[in-house]
Amino acid sequence: MLSDHETLADILAFHLEAGVDVALGEEPVDRFSESAAEKAAPRARAAAPQPAADRPSPARPAPPPARVELPAPDLVTPDQAASEAREAATTAPTLEALQALLESFEGCSLKHTATRLVFADGNPQARVMLVGEAPGRDEDIEGKPFVGRSGKLLDRMLGAIGIDRTSAYIANVVPWRPPGNRTPTPQETAICLPFIRRQIELANPDILVCLGGPSAQTLLGIKDGITKARGRWMDYHTGTRVIPALATFHPAYLLRTPLGKRMAWRDMLAVQQKLAETPGEKG
Ligand code: URA
Repeated sequence: MLSDHETLADILAFHLEAGVDVALGEEPVDRFSESAAEKAAPRARAAAPQPAADRPSPARPAPPPARVELPAPDLVTPDQAASEAREAATTAPTLEALQALLESFEGCSLKHTATRLVFADGNPQARVMLVGEAPGRDEDIEGKPFVGRSGKLLDRMLGAIGIDRTSAYIANVVPWRPPGNRTPTPQETAICLPFIRRQIELANPDILVCLGGPSAQTLLGIKDGITKARGRWMDYHTGTRVIPALATFHPAYLLRTPLGKRMAWRDMLAVQQKLAETPGEKG
């Protein structure tokens, strides 16, 4: 028989795997202990005919509920946030300034559910920059991109062509973890896009690798899915320079679909070859 400790650990592990890792309230609520009668009561009250004494008489209508005055919220639409992001991002003269700017940017609500900003890892001087979609749970805890299971696979993929985190610069389109690892919404992506574009421009790599379909679609403006888009060299325009860019499978996809590794291996070889034949600005 399982001990209480093991049962609780199992339940917690199940919640984590299901993506339930954010507390919504300060105090836990034991819904199981609420009696059926309590749960049914409000519905029964609403459905039951009111006694005549409780019914508002037509002559004396019930007073309207008291209005609670709330402070006016500081409303910013996603479009306004995206335009603020565009303006702010271009003002950052260095990667450090861009990171500081993101730390104080309030336009993306993901910031409030994430533990911390996940800006980048690796070497900003590297010739290769890889960009994923958004941090997951491990990245949110450590504050670095691709440190969980898919990060370990990414390290092995890079290692196969002689690259490690001293010779690669790694970031994500969205630098805050979406709650429960959900896909970032189009609005969240649009708000974060100016920042990753500026990050690429400032890092100024010789080669850009988009990890997965969402990264490729966002950065390269393509509509194709990753199976069609991967392995083809495309142009990425920073605004000041054109960088060769390649999309490949996201390591998380490869963990679920090992058959894709053969094609990802070809993509890595293409990156290696391009590095050898492109003198580049960092060459
Ligand atoms: N998946 C991503 O797209 N980025 C990370 O940093 C980790 C997992």
